[in-house]
Amino acid sequence: MTQPLSAETKAIVKSTALAIQQHGLAITTRMYERLFVDPDIKALFDQAAQTSGEQPRRLAAAILAFAQNVDKLEARAPAIAKIAHRHVETGIRPEHYPAVANALLPAIRDVLGDAASDKVLTAWGEAYWFLADVLIGEEAALYEKAA
Ligand code: HEM
Repeated sequence: MTQPLSAETKAIVKSTALAIQQHGLAITTRMYERLFVDPDIKALFDQAAQTSGEQPRRLAAAILAFAQNVDKLEARAPAIAKIAHRHVETGIRPEHYPAVANALLPAIRDVLGDAASDKVLTAWGEAYWFLADVLIGEEAALYEKAA
């Protein structure tokens, strides 16, 4: 079961969301540089791009947008369901989630430098995993249904 985020974590994420979104493109670009060092992870996106013709760029944008709305995820249920379906189509599994966390959080530090303090990154890490747990749960139900 997903642990609720503390009030402090939510406050830090919300107060830094705008700065992080303003640098969204730079953070996203850096995140993919870090993520695609792993050829197995890169292959997941190459396959997806062939089937949908879409850029995976939306992934990071969505993480940033969702983190900003971290205390009203219920309102985002349709968007979350859509992502979960796309993830199941592209074979995303729980074990892939750490790779995105390990690429996104250092990318925020790379771009924002000292403005991204350890406290800020810890809060964003918690928000990422909160969202990841929701997605992993929805995806598990979809995989089970398909089996
Ligand atoms: C909290 C974590 C994550 C969020 C918020 C997220 C968000 C998204 C969004 C918004 C899309 C586009 C959905 C659509 O077609 O409408 C997407 C697609 C995708 N995501 Fe995720 N994602 C997350 C984690 C991951 C992870 C861990 C992986 C694998 C390493 C991954 C791989 C993909 C792939 C391959 C696609 C398909 C791209 C395409 O359609 O070309 N995502 N994700």
